[in-house]
Amino acid sequence: MSSVTRKNRVITTRKLIEMKRNGEKIAMLTVYDYTMATIMDEAHGIDIVLVGDSAANIMAGHETTLPMTLDQMIYHAQSVVRAIKNPMVVVDLPFGSYQGNSKEALVSAIRIMKESAADAVKLEGGEEILDSVRRILSAGIPVMGHLGLMPQSINKYGTFAVRATDDREAEKLLRDAELLEKEGCFALVLEKIPASLGADVAKKLQIPVIGIGAGAGVDGQVLVSHDMLGMNTDFSPRFLRRYANLKDNMLEAFSNYIKDVKSGQFPNKNEEY
Ligand code: KIV
Repeated sequence: MSSVTRKNRVITTRKLIEMKRNGEKIAMLTVYDYTMATIMDEAHGIDIVLVGDSAANIMAGHETTLPMTLDQMIYHAQSVVRAIKNPMVVVDLPFGSYQGNSKEALVSAIRIMKESAADAVKLEGGEEILDSVRRILSAGIPVMGHLGLMPQSINKYGTFAVRATDDREAEKLLRDAELLEKEGCFALVLEKIPASLGADVAKKLQIPVIGIGAGAGVDGQVLVSHDMLGMNTDFSPRFLRRYANLKDNMLEAFSNYIKDVKSGQFPNKNEEY
């Protein structure tokens, strides 16, 4: 059971749609662990936290998100849900847990909702996964879509370059976005696509469109928290704005600790029993 009371949770699927209607931008960040989630919750104003399968890269050091398992996603989601009061908690369905068939997708989504008490799931894809989306929604589980660059399909693309730069892919993306909305998704993430296409999709849909590298014309933004905090300086795509340089702060703290231990200055009299 979660130790945090979420009875009066402010952010619901209905609230997010209302925010779009009122022109209020949606702030979303990824998070994978309890401590970071408590700080994010305390920041007041994050609308959605995403337990992303980017945990594969950020927490486990994998090159892609593909190795992430359902059990691992549930573990991260449980840690985050324990800390979060107001934001909506969305959890990624990992690669291989929903593409096979819609029954498997439903079983995976139900495990996430039952075992972590999260609020919604996110799936990558459009027309190809529509049966899975429909079946999950039929069980009353809110679904967030994800189009554009879909990291679980990296082996198909062979590159992390900007998607939908040609008319054919852009038209498919728009069609998929409309299908997901029609099916009942409550929101959509668009990753790494031209800003003009992001704005077009946001204008055409009633549901909120949240971008990561999709320009300013969408209804909200999401970033990977470790990237925006400057903990991971190897990754510098154009869309990433760094709001801190935590890697430098941490390196300084670690070197000062090493110096103090080696020189015998830590612990001092006040730090012992
Ligand atoms: O897993 C993740 O971090 C994501 C974001 C990039 C939206 O899906």
